[in-house]
Amino acid sequence: MRVFVTGAQGCIGAWCVKSLLDRGLDVLVYDKDTTPTRLSHIASPAAVAKVRFVEGQIEDTARVKALIKDEGITHVLHLAAVLMPYCQANPVSGGMIDVIGALNVFEGARDAGRDVRVVYASSSAVWGPEDAYENRPLNESDPLYPGTHYGVFKMANEGNARVFYSANGISSVGLRPWTVYGVGRDIGLTAGPTLAMKAVVKGEPYQIGVTGHMDLQYVDDVAEIFNRCLLDGFPGAHVFNLAGEIIRMDHFIEKLDAMRPGAAKLISNAGGKVPVAYQMDAAALAKMVPGLKRTPLEEGMRETLEIYDRLKSAGQL
Ligand SMILES: NC(=O)c1ccc[n+]([C@@H]2O[C@H](COP(=O)([O-])OP(=O)(O)OC[C@H]3O[C@@H](n4cnc5c(N)ncnc54)[C@H](O)[C@@H]3O)[C@@H](O)[C@H]2O)c1
Repeated sequence: MRVFVTGAQGCIGAWCVKSLLDRGLDVLVYDKDTTPTRLSHIASPAAVAKVRFVEGQIEDTARVKALIKDEGITHVLHLAAVLMPYCQANPVSGGMIDVIGALNVFEGARDAGRDVRVVYASSSAVWGPEDAYENRPLNESDPLYPGTHYGVFKMANEGNARVFYSANGISSVGLRPWTVYGVGRDIGLTAGPTLAMKAVVKGEPYQIGVTGHMDLQYVDDVAEIFNRCLLDGFPGAHVFNLAGEIIRMDHFIEKLDAMRPGAAKLISNAGGKVPVAYQMDAAALAKMVPGLKRTPLEEGMRETLEIYDRLKSAGQL
């Protein structure tokens, strides 16, 4: 078996690759960025040396399809994407990357000449804003009213995945994280909580650019969910919500201050709410993939702060 990971140099990608390497699997990385900065923050140099990095754009149809076919790929973890702010400002180029990129992966799986399983990152952004729903956890049967181009792109990918299963038998799982946090999370509208922890370790001021609630999901747990869905091998075209721990941003700052006294003097928050409902029912995922861990927020924050402490001591922060 050989795993093709797109967007592997990103936050979730680095943690997924680390965990695939820990399992002894053969990983081929495809990303527009070939510098494994995030991976080298969490994995040993020996582990990083085992990965083959291929530089390229996910919207390059011929290249993506050729790699999946010619490199003997059996499993694809598709993470390459541009996030909400980029897509909102650049819908055409965002759509090329997020929608055409995903179609390339699925066409590559279809035309590989062998069974190829696909797990891809959808997003909770497929849900509309809070006021589009009643005040209750949303499950996968509830209607989607995405309020951003990014959310619409992710919704399109879920639909295309369904059609690739019904028309071509390509099994897939689409996963919908909310806010992933942990070392390596430094891009996107919801990177604030992680960047705040990094700023506290550096002793610098930082403002989280959103207010209101977020569902924070620890990156190590999220990576394990992606990898289990990839390796467990159940058939069909599935889509699952993810859930972590919901917290209001001002309460997050209080929690951080309790863990690192003085943090509240450095960290503030301002701005609007993330335009995505935040109460998710993740029972369907737990039923399909039993035994997944859900790290308590405080424990995930402690681990994140400790890794940042270590990187700071090593002069890598
Ligand atoms: N981080 C979150 O909270 C969150 C929440 C919901 C969904 N997601 C989804 O999870 C996936 C990974 O997110 P992340 O937080 O790791 O993002 P990230 O920005 O850290 O990583 C994205 C990676 O994709 C690569 N990439 C971007 N454009 C590319 C292109 N045109 N061709 C090839 N590679 C390209 C980047 O170089 C980067 O390594 C994305 O699909 C994202 O939409 C993330």
